[in-house]
Amino acid sequence: MSLLILALALSALFLLWVNGKRRRDPPLPPSPPADPIIGHLRMIPQSDQEMFFYNLGKQYGDVVYLHVLGKPMIVLNSVKAAVDLLEKRSSNYSDRPDFPIFELMGWDPTVTFLHYGKQFQTQRKLLQGYLNKNECVNYHPFQTREARVLVQNLIANPEARDGLLSRFSTAIVIRLVSGHQITSDDDYYIRMAEEVGATAANSGPPGSTAVDFFPFLKNFPSWFPGTYYARYARSVRKVVRNLHDYPHDAVQEQLKKGTARPSFLTSQLEMLNNNPGGKGVNKLEDILGAAGAMYIGGADTTSSSMSIFFLAIVIHPECQVKAQEEIDRVIGQGRLPELTDRDSLPYMECLMQESLSIFFNLLLLTQTIGVPHRSLEDDIYNDMFIPKGSVIIANIRGMTLDESMYSNPLEFNPDRFLPKDQGGLGEPFPITTFGFGRRVCPGKYLADASLWIAMASLLATTTISKVIGNDGKEITPEVVFISGIAR
Ligand code: HEM
Ligand SMILES: *[C@@H]1O[C@H](CO)[C@@H](O)[C@H](O)[C@H]1NC(C)=O
Repeated sequence: MSLLILALALSALFLLWVNGKRRRDPPLPPSPPADPIIGHLRMIPQSDQEMFFYNLGKQYGDVVYLHVLGKPMIVLNSVKAAVDLLEKRSSNYSDRPDFPIFELMGWDPTVTFLHYGKQFQTQRKLLQGYLNKNECVNYHPFQTREARVLVQNLIANPEARDGLLSRFSTAIVIRLVSGHQITSDDDYYIRMAEEVGATAANSGPPGSTAVDFFPFLKNFPSWFPGTYYARYARSVRKVVRNLHDYPHDAVQEQLKKGTARPSFLTSQLEMLNNNPGGKGVNKLEDILGAAGAMYIGGADTTSSSMSIFFLAIVIHPECQVKAQEEIDRVIGQGRLPELTDRDSLPYMECLMQESLSIFFNLLLLTQTIGVPHRSLEDDIYNDMFIPKGSVIIANIRGMTLDESMYSNPLEFNPDRFLPKDQGGLGEPFPITTFGFGRRVCPGKYLADASLWIAMASLLATTTISKVIGNDGKEITPEVVFISGIAR
């Protein structure tokens, strides 16, 4: 019996291989040499994938073809290629690959992991209704308030920085989603969000665990080799479920008592309670899916961007001095920065953009390469054949290192973005940080404002400096990252 299965499996793989070898006209994009059958599986590293892809791009061009066990993958290393495909042809490039591990964890149906289609569009519309540019102006007051709470807490307790940064980002998302105001560090919502962040960070390299390549493994017993992450994913289902159910139950209770504050869940659940199945009324599953997507997409990303800002300032104190001079000159000593000051603080803007792009690149799910898309149709791009069903990896990090756009891209230099007549290099702000096309981050306006007001409030009131060690000398931190949902 097992010999029979083996023979069937081998012949299936052989067919895939022959299929992969078939000559195409036009040809597939350039590709490094591959192993028979398993393709580039052994080549693709489990960490620092962005640099591996970036180096491939330098060698083979900005569109590179890879395949793993017959599954095609296309790596995009330039902004132009990403915009041409993921934006200009977005109707054929907005699917997602399967994420079996996240599905097992219970992140289904959540917009981030949904295939392109009706349910995806419903949840996206729901999110855009709350997170579009105009709506987001309404959230500026509570973002500003949270930024000031952050600064006060940091001054009182600088050692607690990481916890305070995650409290900041969580407080904003929770307030928006369920109306709950976080007032202490041991708030239940913070613990819940941290637990969920940890499960996502420990779930293996997304898209590259054994279960991703052989989805049938998820049904194998837990002692079977390669099933570790599937077992882990099942063990955390309760945590993910609770993140959906707890806020729902709390808001329903408040609606009954008449104490619910305005929020995403409040208005969506109220509509659903009043008129289930009505026109324009969303299903509970989609309401909770969209809410879940805001928790998983909004918390760790924002706090890790803030951590990286601290790192950037500690390593480049001269940039802090320049930003503080600008704040003093424009705003003076009598008040704190507001989001309406943003346009009058150009250097602050450049500093934020550089810290978002040079050290950091989102990283959601796959470290530094954004969240993969998948193509829906066979396509031809610059005389290269892009097969239907390709996993499309937009290497955001590689794009910020593109020497045709950025001079000395590895150098931390906020002035690069200033116009030439103001002593800068006139290089463009990165447009890649939040992804592309119909999958572009729906939380980008919210996140962008949270980061700006937190960074500006910090620099207006405090000076970030190196820790002094026991020997009386400053400690310069090493630049080392841990990968999770965000870096
Ligand atoms: C610094 C903060 C953030 C960064 C850098 C970031 C970046 C990204 C990126 C690169 C993607 C993938 C885009 C693509 O596939 O092309 C994404 C997706 C997403 N983000 Fe964000 N994000 C941030 C904050 C937020 C916030 C605050 C929210 C919500 C409140 C959010 C919600 C989402 C959702 C729901 C998706 C999935 C969209 C889809 O699959 O259609 N993000 N984000
Ligand atoms: C998507 O693919 C279909 C089928 O190949 C093609 O007819 C259509 O023009 C494509 N759409 C875009 C925007 O490229």
